[in-house]
Amino acid sequence: MSQHKVIYDTDPGVDDAMALVFQALHPDIALLGVTSVFGNGTIETTTRNARYLAAKFAPGTPVACGAAAPLRRAAPEPLASIHGDDGLGNIRPDTHAQTGSALDPRPAHRFIIETVRAQPGEVTLIAVGPLTNLALALAEDPRIATLVKQVVIMGGAFGTDGFLGNVTPAAEANILGDPDAADVVLGAAWPVTIVGLDVTQNTIMSTAYLASIRDRAGDAGRFVWDVSRHYEDFHRKSAQLAGIYVHDSSAVAYVLAPHLYTTRSGPVRVLTDGIATGMTIQKPATMPEPAPDWDSRPACKVCIRVDAPAMLSLYEKTLCGTL
Ligand code: BDR
Ligand code: CA
Repeated sequence: MSQHKVIYDTDPGVDDAMALVFQALHPDIALLGVTSVFGNGTIETTTRNARYLAAKFAPGTPVACGAAAPLRRAAPEPLASIHGDDGLGNIRPDTHAQTGSALDPRPAHRFIIETVRAQPGEVTLIAVGPLTNLALALAEDPRIATLVKQVVIMGGAFGTDGFLGNVTPAAEANILGDPDAADVVLGAAWPVTIVGLDVTQNTIMSTAYLASIRDRAGDAGRFVWDVSRHYEDFHRKSAQLAGIYVHDSSAVAYVLAPHLYTTRSGPVRVLTDGIATGMTIQKPATMPEPAPDWDSRPACKVCIRVDAPAMLSLYEKTLCGTL
């Protein structure tokens, strides 16, 4: 089969890094570029990390620097307690000998526009941070919505198994990072799939699973183990979990193996003010009642179920080279 041509929009981030390794090592993905955005760290930190990761795992892949703050609000504080002071679980990437990839001269949103326009109908956007770069790209060139193959977003939470938020009772981190951008991106006329907490918190890499990858997947496996120590510690303290939720790699898995996910179709809105800011609400396509705030918008696919063992097996086989 032909490869998926991917632009990876990311705020690395421990799980962002693990998802980049996944994409770099899977033979069905051609990584056209990595675009950074604020989120798990400042834009300086996430861009430095994106350049470090690209140089280490996907040499030659362009990296473009994106938004430093949301469209209409102040940048959130970096999530050091989750992702470490360096955004990569305190592995201190700047002390490693490897230098980062060169930075593309274009801002991330223009890199996205020009790459999509150069290959109409072929580019998949995988977005796993706040959606600011995608909203800026749409604002500058709305036609790209019709030229993208698909947009796969890690973000949001729709209440399956009671999952509604991870940074507030009502909001997931990427959507809360820029709710205004998220409402624009989820309302645009491009094919969007949302991979939210409904499935990512039902997919768990246990300590034993990560140790097995460490021991069998060479440098990549060792890296995945090292980068996830601080993150696993956070999960142990905050959720009494002997392992980690699989957020950003689930968006990659959806691109590679959509049959592992059950989706529900319908337009989605994002609340942009009030105590539930960042909440994502879908009107299922099967609901007959009129809902004017949803009805004029295109349907998104929301993932509500996952075959978690199969997803974990896909990641493991990709890293171990046993696909
Ligand atoms: C999302 O938030 C970030 O902290 C992670 O990298 C992931 O993209 C999970 O809510
Ligand atoms: Ca992320």
